[in-house]
Amino acid sequence: MRLEVQGLRVALGGVALVEDFSLRVDAGQVHAVVGESGSGKTLSALALLDLLPEGATWTGTVRVDGQSPRGREGFAMVLQEPLSALNPVLTVGAQLRETLEVHGYSGDLQGRAVELLAEVGLVEGEERLGMFPHQLSGGQRQRVCIACALAANPRVLIADEPTTALDASMRGVILALLVRLARQRSLSVWLITHDLQSVREASDEVSVMYAGRVVEHGPTREVLSSPRHPYTAALLASNPSATPVGQRLPAIDGNVPLAGEVISGCRFHPRCPRALARCSSERPAFADGVACWLVSA
Ligand SMILES: Nc1ncnc2c1ncn2[C@@H]1O[C@H](COP(=O)(O)OP(=O)(O)OP(=O)(O)O)[C@@H](O)[C@H]1O
Ligand code: SF4
Ligand SMILES: [Mg+2]
Repeated sequence: MRLEVQGLRVALGGVALVEDFSLRVDAGQVHAVVGESGSGKTLSALALLDLLPEGATWTGTVRVDGQSPRGREGFAMVLQEPLSALNPVLTVGAQLRETLEVHGYSGDLQGRAVELLAEVGLVEGEERLGMFPHQLSGGQRQRVCIACALAANPRVLIADEPTTALDASMRGVILALLVRLARQRSLSVWLITHDLQSVREASDEVSVMYAGRVVEHGPTREVLSSPRHPYTAALLASNPSATPVGQRLPAIDGNVPLAGEVISGCRFHPRCPRALARCSSERPAFADGVACWLVSA
């Protein structure tokens, strides 16, 4: 299955929060979308699921295997905080069975629920089905959320910061699970994260977002080893794991623009260490995987 998003624009009260967002996720691949807080990562995904906050609207083209999807059919989303995504007063089994039913599964609900738990690495499924979310560890809860997402039999799985609430070792386990599911189920996985280590570990391709726009896109290995956009380079330089212990962490000067803040030219120019004279007045187009005058000039 292949997901293609073209020219997505999300607006609230006439203010564009996301513009010109395009993304392609091939079957069996993980495409990471990375950027600082407020860059529009979550809104882009919510638009596709018609789950935008009240008053927000979107335009753009979405295709799954070349076809327009009907509503949310074929999509499932896993959220950052599994405890709030699960219903605290329903057992794991009740939640899985309900999701299966809603999505038209007509076979043995209990048996299928156990199979789904096994698929996400939870053994002793029968016993787990009787448990409530608070009786599980953070990692187990996130696995249950992923199992619930799979119960919808999706073709596209969107995971929004799925490991932020977990410790480092569990983060790797959940990321590896997402990669395995992408490969085994030929799923298109759209991974939203602010963490470059997760991008490195789990994604095949990466899109870097800044202030509502994609500024660089390419194969993960290439983008992380030879970033072409100064923002990508700055993100990499400020990555804690790239800084030796005891050394001051480099930060990107300035702040992400406020939602809807009018900035002429390149939206990164007030923070860009390599800005040219034209950068403050002329906006670089996104071409050949990057939106920067240093590359397209
Ligand atoms: N309900 C809302 N009402 C008004 N503005 C909103 C709303 N939700 C998001 N925004 C604004 O839209 C912009 C993009 O938000 P979004 O949640 O997509 O960012 P994000 O990249 O997912 O950030 P984070 O890493 O913090 O999750 C932000 O500037 C945010 O302030
Ligand atoms: S277009 Fe100019 S300001 Fe924007 S990232 Fe490139 S060099 Fe920096
Ligand atoms: Mg978000």
